[in-house]
Amino acid sequence: MIMQYQDLHTPCYILDLSKLLNNLNGLKQAFTAQWVNTQISYSFKTNNLPWLVNWMRKQRVYAEVVSAPEYDLARYVGYPENNIVINGPYKGYPTLLEAVQKGSVVNLDNFEEIAFLLAHKPDLPVNASVGLRINFDLESYCPDETIPGKEPGRFGFNVENGDIHKAISLLEEKGIPVVGLHGHHSTKTKSLKIFQTITRQLCEVAKSLNNLQYLDIGGCLFGDKPGAPSFDEYATTIVNELKAYHIREDVRLIIEPGAALIASPFSYLCEVNAVKDIAGVRFVYTNGSMKHIAPQMNPVKFCYSRTGKGEKTIPRQVVTGFTCIEKDRFLDVADETEVFVGEKIEIKNTGAYTLSLAPLFIEYFPDVYVKEVESYRLVREHWGTQQFIQNNILD
Ligand SMILES: Cc1ncc(COP(=O)(O)O)c(C=O)c1O
Repeated sequence: MIMQYQDLHTPCYILDLSKLLNNLNGLKQAFTAQWVNTQISYSFKTNNLPWLVNWMRKQRVYAEVVSAPEYDLARYVGYPENNIVINGPYKGYPTLLEAVQKGSVVNLDNFEEIAFLLAHKPDLPVNASVGLRINFDLESYCPDETIPGKEPGRFGFNVENGDIHKAISLLEEKGIPVVGLHGHHSTKTKSLKIFQTITRQLCEVAKSLNNLQYLDIGGCLFGDKPGAPSFDEYATTIVNELKAYHIREDVRLIIEPGAALIASPFSYLCEVNAVKDIAGVRFVYTNGSMKHIAPQMNPVKFCYSRTGKGEKTIPRQVVTGFTCIEKDRFLDVADETEVFVGEKIEIKNTGAYTLSLAPLFIEYFPDVYVKEVESYRLVREHWGTQQFIQNNILD
């Protein structure tokens, strides 16, 4: 269904296709200019809208998944298994087995996965291979930049306690070659130093591999955020380390962006249904919610635009959502023109960890439109009771 902006059913997400294409092309060009054998794998968890993951497939982007349902979704929309990278601490054993059998890029996370594969060695093809996720004390190299801080990170095989080398030996002795390493770390800063340190650590561990085929740097890069490192700077930082370690040019560099591609192309449109003055505050009530744009309800300073052009200036207006949570307040604006009932407010940069984390709380999933030039196409219809009730048994 093709629509115009003024007719969009609210609340809804809007995906601006030209911005998405711009982000993807920018990232692709920056990395392939410096390392021809770069493969982008889109992180499904960041935004798992089926239309979007299918679009990524059509752009020859691989799927980066971390669970059996995500692996199934990738296959459902048509990814060949060897274009899927599977990570994560809980892949589900049938999925793990199938992924190795069918040639997906499989990054193991724990010794239980290794024991499982060794026990199933007779079921694997002769050329089966795996990768390992590394765990190391990134915080000691980049103080105050990591999310766990002084606590150890929980993913992958630790370098400092020797687990990574134990894991390599266990697999290689039993004839399952370790051909890749994975270094994703979610960090607070996404700095160039983080990527330099991860790449360096991957290259150090790679010295122990006999047949290195890929290094997977992971995601958590900034996208087109003003003042952040550019895609070119990320690429230069990573590739300089690969070159310093004399990594062969045929080794594939995998990157797993999520937010860098998808945060900025999405916005969220909601409509004002009431206003109220209480103790000097003008409350503005909408059919949207913080649950759809910051599902963990952390305070965020959103960029926004409005359709209305009131004349009177109001000292303070607080824009709020449909839930009955007091904290469901997503804009707090001073000295702005008055917001009216019926006016629409568009919140920008809402693509990362929003649709995939939004709950079915009070209202259900909203519509999603894709903006192509100046028209809008519905790619997910909002959920109603029919969708909510599916797979339920009432008595
Ligand atoms: C293994 C892995 N790869 C990639 C990503 C994508 O991260 P981002 O959306 O910050 O780019 C994540 C996010 O948690 C992840 O866990």
